[in-house]
Amino acid sequence: MIIIKAGGSAITDKQKPYTPRTDVMELIAEELKEIKDSVILVHGGGSFGHYPAKKYRLNEGYMFPEQIKGFSETKEKMEELNNIFIKILNQKVNAVPVQSSACIITKNKEIFKFFSEPVSKILNFGAIPVLYGDTVFDERIGFCILSGDRIIYELSRIFRPGKVVFGTDVDGVYDKDPRKHKDAEIIREISLRELSIEIGDTEDVTGGMGGKLEEIRRIVKLGIEVDLINITVKGRITDCVKGDFKGTRIFS
Ligand code: IPE
Repeated sequence: MIIIKAGGSAITDKQKPYTPRTDVMELIAEELKEIKDSVILVHGGGSFGHYPAKKYRLNEGYMFPEQIKGFSETKEKMEELNNIFIKILNQKVNAVPVQSSACIITKNKEIFKFFSEPVSKILNFGAIPVLYGDTVFDERIGFCILSGDRIIYELSRIFRPGKVVFGTDVDGVYDKDPRKHKDAEIIREISLRELSIEIGDTEDVTGGMGGKLEEIRRIVKLGIEVDLINITVKGRITDCVKGDFKGTRIFS
């Protein structure tokens, strides 16, 4: 099994609120069609999720009644993005959406309960479950934002995939900041320790992958291979699945 994250930076235009990148979604659909192994797809929010979530400070938990409007609004936008993606995916594969807040409850932002059986059932039918970062209810703080990355960690714990692929719009981890150095090169393999130092020093090098580090660390610690690739480029997912890829592999 492979778990693939389609990052919000890849499937939406992060500069323009509520703008999908349907070309990238089509490309992903095309590549998923070629994968023989079972796949769970998780996507991020990009410019659909992060705008309303930030506006209403949803990740700080419940503080004032107006936030409920933001909770609904964020959910509405995430469902809209999910629906756009599902429609495109279904032209090539059988993708079935799983709404995170309907099967996950968090406690202090950590997944506390996860009714994962629908995901297993979808897989049993040879279809692709599609989960996504979402607003969820939290046992302690009322509600919070649950990232797709955290969902992937939980799915990894439950389903023990052979590989987790984090797809963004950057090629991987660079040895130097590519915006400042023309000769910057992609690091093909990096240890968790080196990755922490890279991200700690220069968050830009990884194209905003700082927040992913914790989840990546936890997944690698489960003994699962984690690859970072650019999924806006044709062929990268297929190559990665074959083991011959352009990107960065993280090891413990
Ligand atoms: C965020 O999910 C979901 C919301 C903001 C509602 P992610 O954190 O996985 O999204 P990206 O990939 O960073 O955009």
